Amino acid sequence: MTSPHPGLKGRPVYLDYNATTPVDPRVVEAMAEYLSVAFGNPSSAHSYGAAAAAAVEAARADVAALLGAAAGRVVFTGSGSEADALAIRGAALAVPAPPGRRRHVITQATEHPAVLAACADLAELHDVDVTVLPVDGDGLVDPRDLAEAITGRTVLISVMHANNETGTIQPVAQITRVAHERGVLVHCDAAQSVGKIGVDVAELGVDLLTLVGHKMYAPKGVAALYVADSVRLRPLVGGGGQEFGLRAGTENVASIVGLGRAAQLAAEALADGESDRLSALRDRLQHDLESLLPDRVHLNGHPTLRLPNTLNVRIDGAPALGLLDAASGGVAASAGSACHAGAAAPSPVLTAMRLPPEQALTAIRLSGGRWTSAQEVDDAAMSIARVAAPRE
Ligand SMILES: Cc1ncc(COP(=O)(O)O)c(C=O)c1O
Repeated sequence: MTSPHPGLKGRPVYLDYNATTPVDPRVVEAMAEYLSVAFGNPSSAHSYGAAAAAAVEAARADVAALLGAAAGRVVFTGSGSEADALAIRGAALAVPAPPGRRRHVITQATEHPAVLAACADLAELHDVDVTVLPVDGDGLVDPRDLAEAITGRTVLISVMHANNETGTIQPVAQITRVAHERGVLVHCDAAQSVGKIGVDVAELGVDLLTLVGHKMYAPKGVAALYVADSVRLRPLVGGGGQEFGLRAGTENVASIVGLGRAAQLAAEALADGESDRLSALRDRLQHDLESLLPDRVHLNGHPTLRLPNTLNVRIDGAPALGLLDAASGGVAASAGSACHAGAAAPSPVLTAMRLPPEQALTAIRLSGGRWTSAQEVDDAAMSIARVAAPRE
């Protein structure tokens, strides 16, 4: 992108694209009509309704095309968390429990809290057994662990495509093969990968896949779930029958149009080599940090099976929350830890990768995107290095 984004001009370097992306001005432009003149309810039979319905269907086709799916297989939701819940609770509850036997669902330790919460709800409210698979030191699930965990009662596995903190990319196609051999459905939370790398539902073989608007330059509050032809879901919200009866509620037409435009732009960017541009910047940032802070910078996550925009590093002797606070005038990024009741708590993702808490507390999450430049990367590295206290 040549012209700077209006939300980024004159402000700290934004390296938190995995938290949320700025809305692309071309997305805003596409949405404007549906916030002003084209206000119809897609369910209305008159021309106002027809215009809105046509816009929703066009967006559905654009989102499906980005995934290599047929247009009718995409359901719009109000968030990624909702799409995850619809996939997990919806698929598990659509299968009746055999008399006297509990259904079983499998997930893995570094999932987003939306997936873990949906599984926990199944356990707590619906007597479903849940297995959480471990990951290795790079954050990868071993498909052999999955094969061992599947039982005759297993109905679903939910495994993310790429991790939001480390960028580690799971072997989803392999996982799907193992699951399908045993008749188990697969849901994949691809919130972080769609738009950053090519995501094709046929190649991955998944039955259900979540994508999220605000991770791909569309607004917050809109997301989508791909649902394969053969999959039955029990809706979380019933009512007016919208979205093929899977998600009641009058459609958020403008945001759906925005997601459709964002999907078109993502397809164009991927075809133009955006993944390579981002991975070069990611590696430049790592090298900058390593040369400014010799022997103190260590990578978290898989060295190669990783999103092109994501760099999660720990810096010896520099607790992340304090570091990012001190550097906040120059760079905006996330820590691999959160402040709970006044004390820093290590990231559950890094803990699951068996990183000791004292190391996890020094992890910073740097994620670039459409407006990240080489100059910004160099400036951000300088801002971080300047405040990283010298090692004791
Ligand atoms: C991997 C992953 N899944 C799901 C979500 C949830 O999306 P939303 O914020 O739209 O509920 C996020 C957002 O942080 C995410 O990174």
